Amino acid sequence: MGGGCAPAPEGSPEGPGASRAAGRLRQALRRSRRIEVRAEPEVPAPVPPAWSACYAPHSTIYFDQVGRARACCQNTGTLLGDVAHQSIREIWDSAEADRLRTALEGGSYDEGCEFCAWQVREGNDEIVFARGYDHLRPTDPRPRWPRRMELALTNTCNLQCAMCNGEWSSAIRSRREHLPPLPRAYDDAFFDELAEFLPHLESVQFAGGEPFLGAEPLRAMEQLAALERPPAVSIITNGTTLTPRVERLVEVLQPHLIVSIDGATTETYDAIRVGAHLPDVLAHLDRFVELVGADHVSITTCLMASNWREFHRTLGLAEARGLDVGVNVVRLPVEHSLYQLGGDELAAVVATLRATEPELTGPRLAAWTSHVDALAHRADLLQRPRPERDRYADEVPGTPVAGPSSRWAWLPFPEVATAGAADPTPAPSAGPEGHFTVDLEGTVSVQRLDPALVVDGSGLDGRSVAELMARLASAFGDPGSWHQATRRAPTDDDRFWLLLNGVEASGDHELIGSARRDGDGSLSGLALVLRPRTREASTAWT
Ligand SMILES: C[S@@+](CC[C@H](N)C(=O)[O-])C[C@H]1O[C@@H](n2cnc3c(N)ncnc32)[C@H](O)[C@@H]1O
Ligand code: SF4
Repeated sequence: MGGGCAPAPEGSPEGPGASRAAGRLRQALRRSRRIEVRAEPEVPAPVPPAWSACYAPHSTIYFDQVGRARACCQNTGTLLGDVAHQSIREIWDSAEADRLRTALEGGSYDEGCEFCAWQVREGNDEIVFARGYDHLRPTDPRPRWPRRMELALTNTCNLQCAMCNGEWSSAIRSRREHLPPLPRAYDDAFFDELAEFLPHLESVQFAGGEPFLGAEPLRAMEQLAALERPPAVSIITNGTTLTPRVERLVEVLQPHLIVSIDGATTETYDAIRVGAHLPDVLAHLDRFVELVGADHVSITTCLMASNWREFHRTLGLAEARGLDVGVNVVRLPVEHSLYQLGGDELAAVVATLRATEPELTGPRLAAWTSHVDALAHRADLLQRPRPERDRYADEVPGTPVAGPSSRWAWLPFPEVATAGAADPTPAPSAGPEGHFTVDLEGTVSVQRLDPALVVDGSGLDGRSVAELMARLASAFGDPGSWHQATRRAPTDDDRFWLLLNGVEASGDHELIGSARRDGDGSLSGLALVLRPRTREASTAWT
């Protein structure tokens, strides 16, 4: 998924206390301090020169649902380590972490930071994900301790949100994807070592599944609550769960609560956040405000094809309560992403948004403006003359250059099958393979599926190609980070080749596509072959 977490909010609250009384006291103190601060004229602190394109790997460890450690939730390319084989100390001091830090210090986003590279190229610096780590810049470029941890730890979740997937939600994994539960990755040894790291942290973020439901995130919250001087805590939550235990933890930890709300009307919200009901979640939102104060609650929203018409009203829910906001940029699944629309369609969306006069102020208005501007920039780019568009698309995987009618808009790179030769069959490889065809309606048909293939192909036959892409993303990370290493075959416009940078055991795989044509040469679909990377294919088309 192209999103799924949020960087640390700047000016995060100070460490919460270890008891209910201490929590209340802290809340009262914070409120009185806030009044004092407002009375002082603001003196901007001098900003030291930047020495890295991003400070996430210098400051943060992100632990995902299956035990893997990365610098942040967006970097799918560099695995810092895996708790099944390494301690947290070994991961933080690893050669992989050093490589990523060094690359970013040299200004390179090449070590798996494609999401940020893409956002930088989009030209709207204000919403680049990496900027969320700027305030965590350490003084020592190789610090002994991380300043922040982001904990996903489990996919336990009660909802089946339309744009989410089974990696984040156990409910989606079992009911929509019909897959077995993810194995538990974090054992007692992990939590014992975590206890050594927690006192050194300035902030901890819980990122999901649903942190107020998972046993592991709740265990880590209890560990934090037992500390005398815990770090600032932020929790991204769907806002459905407010048990007595959750109330107690919220009162003690006084966290920053980031509540995901993807629509302003019950109709839209309930259709997207399947299993939740907007009035109930708004009641919890208001209770959160009572518990921690409005300055510790924010709303985050996925801006998507299904809810953009309500964007101003969703931000209005925050406006009415004086809350901060965040906006998740959705690139996948394709059918939910505004960034996957063709130029004309996106321009029409932008025109409607621009014609809206939102009654927003402060951070809500800033979020509105920056995200509408980013969409406008995108639409403008897609409407530029063809050669310029193609050059851009070659640089930025994920850019659809085709119009909304494109049959191949779901591919994470430009239109590929427009003309040319007959169905080329790739050379056989020794490893397990998956052979699929996709018809012009986007329906997948499974031709061959070797059992050892790393991608789960069960039940795929007859499903939408979006499902195939979701499963590839599950195994190989965000398609935006795959390499279209050899562009296109120089003499054959009908073929394409994508290198899927696998992490963990999946290794490097390649996806080879070719147009399928009827006897009269008219296009009938795509043939796809997924297999472990072979030297022949990698070199033949460069
Ligand atoms: C995966 S959820 C986990 C936390 C919690 N369950 C929740 O919904 O807030 C974290 C954030 O990712 C967002 N999200 C879900 N699917 C997304 C997608 N396809 N692209 C970008 N963000 C997404 C959610 O809206 C939420 O704000
Ligand atoms: S609440 Fe929705 S977005 Fe969050 S993890 Fe569950 S299904 Fe995904």
